[in-house]
Amino acid sequence: MSILEMPDNTVLREALVDGTVTHPDGHKLKVVANVNPNCCSALHDIVRDRKPQLVVEIGMAYGVSTLAILSALEANGQGRLISIDPYIGWPTGRLVALNQVERAGLSERHEHWHECSYLGLARLMEKSLLADFVYIDGNHNFDYAFTDFFLSDKLIAPGGLIGFNDVGWRSVFRVIRFLQKYRRYREIDVGLGKSYRSRNALFALIRRIEGRSSDDRYFEKIDNWEPDGSCLQIPGP
Ligand SMILES: C[S@@+](CC[C@H](N)C(=O)[O-])C[C@H]1O[C@@H](n2cnc3c(N)ncnc32)[C@H](O)[C@@H]1O
Repeated sequence: MSILEMPDNTVLREALVDGTVTHPDGHKLKVVANVNPNCCSALHDIVRDRKPQLVVEIGMAYGVSTLAILSALEANGQGRLISIDPYIGWPTGRLVALNQVERAGLSERHEHWHECSYLGLARLMEKSLLADFVYIDGNHNFDYAFTDFFLSDKLIAPGGLIGFNDVGWRSVFRVIRFLQKYRRYREIDVGLGKSYRSRNALFALIRRIEGRSSDDRYFEKIDNWEPDGSCLQIPGP
């Protein structure tokens, strides 16, 4: 059953179908920056399938991906989610996201860490916490996306999973190229296929030639191997 057909997913459905989220004072806002419905469904399904104990989400915005993960954990009857988002200059975002989680009745399984991911991920490591799944959808600039991956890789054991949103961004694509070259992961097919859509036909063509598809990609860690460092090069564009 699609995530949108599930009877207990009203709050998520409002966001994905009606395009609205609700502020704690009751007024509705237009949802922004969220994971698209197909990626949301895939995210939900992989959490159902893998049954992780600890999921870490980087980038919560209005909580659309958050609800996809939490509703799957709830259906699993186990697991918790830590969402890391500093909401810099966007206090309303945080209020709305936490209200969405509360309205969905999923707060029990959820914690929001109000800080940047590089601090939150490092803090998780300090506590010796291992995540089973990290979903990366925070700041997509190369330095931040790379740091998110670098630290997430340290936070998961072999068998753990990392998911990337906005993989059509050149910066995120380069991070994935690094992962494929300098770490040992296998890509998991979550049924999203390859999409190269863009508002501009030329950009869509360039994306297709470069293999920069736009829907989420997931990778399972095989082992903890790292190169010795002497031949490391940042992947090109
Ligand atoms: C694309 S939105 C996330 C959308 C969300 N996953 C959803 O489906 O609704 C990106 C989010 O990343 C957050 N962000 C920006 N810099 C960040 C950082 N350094 N660490 C964690 N989150 C960050 C922003 O505040 C924003 O809420």
